[in-house]
Amino acid sequence: MTDKNRKLRLGAFLLSIGHHIGAWRHPDVEPRDVFRLEHFKSLARLAERAKFDVIFFADNVGLPDVPPELLAKGPQVYNFDPLILQSILSQETQRIGLVATVSTTYLPPYHLARKFATLDHFSNGRAAWNLVTSATRFEAQNFGLGEQLAHADRYDRAREYVQVVRALWDSWEDDAFLFDKQGNRFFDPAKLHTPAHRAKHFSVRGPLQTGRPPQGYPVLVQAGSSEDGQALAAETAEVVFTAQQTFAEAKAFYDGLKSRLAQFGRDPSQLLVLPGVQPIIGRTEEEAKEKFALLQSLVDPEIGVGLLSTFLNFDLSAFPIDGPLPDLPFTEGWQSRRQLFVDLARRKNLSIRELYLEIAGGRGHRTILGTPQSIADQLEEWFVGGAADGFNILAPTLPKGLEDFSEFVIPDLQRRGLFRTEYEGRTLRENLGLARPVNQFAAS
Ligand SMILES: Cc1cc2nc3c(=O)[nH]c(=O)nc-3n(C[C@H](O)[C@H](O)[C@H](O)COP(=O)(O)O)c2cc1C
Repeated sequence: MTDKNRKLRLGAFLLSIGHHIGAWRHPDVEPRDVFRLEHFKSLARLAERAKFDVIFFADNVGLPDVPPELLAKGPQVYNFDPLILQSILSQETQRIGLVATVSTTYLPPYHLARKFATLDHFSNGRAAWNLVTSATRFEAQNFGLGEQLAHADRYDRAREYVQVVRALWDSWEDDAFLFDKQGNRFFDPAKLHTPAHRAKHFSVRGPLQTGRPPQGYPVLVQAGSSEDGQALAAETAEVVFTAQQTFAEAKAFYDGLKSRLAQFGRDPSQLLVLPGVQPIIGRTEEEAKEKFALLQSLVDPEIGVGLLSTFLNFDLSAFPIDGPLPDLPFTEGWQSRRQLFVDLARRKNLSIRELYLEIAGGRGHRTILGTPQSIADQLEEWFVGGAADGFNILAPTLPKGLEDFSEFVIPDLQRRGLFRTEYEGRTLRENLGLARPVNQFAAS
């Protein structure tokens, strides 16, 4: 890693009023912000002033299937449709990338292609799609399914889904539109292509009625880390969000994923790996520890066990909270995060209570604690050591956690020459250093 010009990438993962599950009861947080558009607008403006590469909204299409008394102990963080929210925020910002999560399992590809093409046009090339396959029964049951599709099937569908949407985005060549009043030709008919896709999972004729997105394709983000998830990412993803706890795990994941790209004829620089971190920032180490202790004291045990049960796809409520994590049967839910939690519990010999406290903050992402300088040191170590191309920043509380990171850590990273002081380009692809894809039909 000797490239002095290599800059780290930063995503602001905006989870409602903060990532920590106790955030909503924290004195810094106004819980009503969960429903306020102005809250999201000011977060977007703040992230752009700080020169983050992207703001990112995760999503689930349903409420967890747990008793309402338990649900009532915390806010619902996925209230709003992320694509609609990003469309609004695209008009509040000029340069920052806009990542919205949409599942390949529940929205037909034509709809997705058109919606992201629209966002890319009206944001002048700043749209990005976080492809998820969805991993819960409560989502499946909102779409006529009793059970979710099997893990391998979800990824098989997702692979074909990406082919369909890319073909739809290529329906029009970049210079198809002529606006020629004299010649009576609005567009050149030779530059309109009908994908006529028909394969195992989808039958989509096209063409898309929306012109080719300014970026060619909106940037494709993924976060699945299982074998299937990594295979799909190696073939198609341009940004990968991931949750790694230790440098060794992160480095192994980074090297492993990048080494898979060659088989698809892809350059490793065209896929950026961004592990998530939850920074707890204090003026002194002591203050950071106190801040963390306050947050941790706000975690309700039932919510902690519930969060863990959701990630593990296994109900832990009947097990002694101060006893060890039981052996878990195979499920069709999330694979990689589940393994990460099991490994963490075994490595540190944690009880159920200790495990949920470990993950409560970052939901499995790494928590880094300290002064701005020591946080910057820890980020630099992973970046320079080749375990990350940048980071997804999970502020424990919002807006305060993002304000602190922007005000104290980012200037430090800039002084070290590790992070930009100005956006390099206009589109998200330009800012991330990602190539603009050629049109598959025009190329032939
Ligand atoms: C930073 C990050 C963000 C994620 N956002 C979402 C999301 O918004 N919706 C979702 O269903 N899954 C989300 N996931 C989960 C992944 O998409 C994936 O389903 C999960 O990591 C399990 O994938 P696997 O079975 O391939 O391991 C996210 C994961 C990470 C690391």
